[in-house]
Amino acid sequence: MTALIYGAYGYTGELIAREAVDRGLDVVLAGRNGTKTRGLAFQLGVDSCVFPLKDARSHLDGIDTVLNCAGPFSKTADPMVEACLATGTHYLDITGEIPVFEALAERDRDAEEADVCLLPGIGFDVVPTDCLAAHLHDRLPSATQLRLGIDTPGSVSGGTLATALDQVDAGGMIRRGGALKSEPPGSRTRPIDFGTGPTHAVSAPMGDVSTAYYSTGIETIEVYLTAPEYAEYLLRTSSYVSPLLAIPTVKRGLQALARALVTGPSERVRQRDRVSVWGEATDGDRTVTSRLETPETYALTIDAATTALERIGSDTDLTGYQTPATAFGPAYVLDLDGVEEFVDE
Ligand SMILES: NC(=O)c1ccc[n+]([C@@H]2O[C@H](COP(=O)([O-])OP(=O)(O)OC[C@H]3O[C@@H](n4cnc5c(N)ncnc54)[C@H](OP(=O)(O)O)[C@@H]3O)[C@@H](O)[C@H]2O)c1
Repeated sequence: MTALIYGAYGYTGELIAREAVDRGLDVVLAGRNGTKTRGLAFQLGVDSCVFPLKDARSHLDGIDTVLNCAGPFSKTADPMVEACLATGTHYLDITGEIPVFEALAERDRDAEEADVCLLPGIGFDVVPTDCLAAHLHDRLPSATQLRLGIDTPGSVSGGTLATALDQVDAGGMIRRGGALKSEPPGSRTRPIDFGTGPTHAVSAPMGDVSTAYYSTGIETIEVYLTAPEYAEYLLRTSSYVSPLLAIPTVKRGLQALARALVTGPSERVRQRDRVSVWGEATDGDRTVTSRLETPETYALTIDAATTALERIGSDTDLTGYQTPATAFGPAYVLDLDGVEEFVDE
């Protein structure tokens, strides 16, 4: 199985490329910048391929799976998915963007016909929460409402910040009656017990608002992040700033600044930090909650994406639109390094 990692010289792409090579996977590194792509491939002793996304189709000969690490995925997923469907190549990415998940879910039939799978969100966003959602649904199949929460110390890379800026003018998002519903950012707050007592959390438009619906069929979904009160205030007041971010030159300028000034978490931080994930499912009569502890978000992303490449290589039957949990089952997250068992209540 040969996998092509696109965006391989970005912060996250490089870490995944190094891990894939360490695990002995057959990978080709790709990206649009020749010097950076070839330089990294030379260091790691693997092949490279340089092309802009519009030319992807003519560069997938002999490639079984693409792992797209080039974000924002609102700009990169569509051309790469088109190329994968045309060439019969599996498509994986590490997006957390709701519109991208929704657009790929709509290509389910095309992917079935092309005999390939479309598996976005194979990073921290959404692997642990998606597996937790599927686990809760297994515990309470009659559930009609799902709430998920994430408590993370939260260092981010410049690329993640640029992607968040890309989405900020879209505001908040929840799912009601199966449909996506936008609302002002930070509209909802609630205490969540991640195992150490109630912590203040605020609603956030995380990818699970899309994916948990496909993994569980539950029609009402909300996702929360822990946040100090000042962060909640910033989220709320961001609605005054978002019209500014709708101006393309302002957004592009801030994204360039984010990429230039923000470096991703150091190896020490990736090894040190832990993340708590919480979920609650209810059918109105019964409520079940479960928790999960994972490594730092980028550490988990590297492991989850590389493990997905290994599994896709050995499971050729996987076709159509998939979430991490529909592809590999709720226990997938438990197979990753440093992830503790589900704690059920
Ligand atoms: N799901 C998760 O939990 C998770 C975890 C980590 C990262 N992410 C997401 O992954 C993405 C990358 O993050 P990062 O930290 O690696 O960012 P980064 O360091 O800025 O790297 C981004 C990479 O994408 C490439 N790229 C961007 N736009 C492109 C385009 N239109 N065509 C071709 N290449 C393009 C960049 O190439 P150039 O330098 O040539 O522009 C670079 O190689 C972000 O969207 C981030 O939010 C998600």
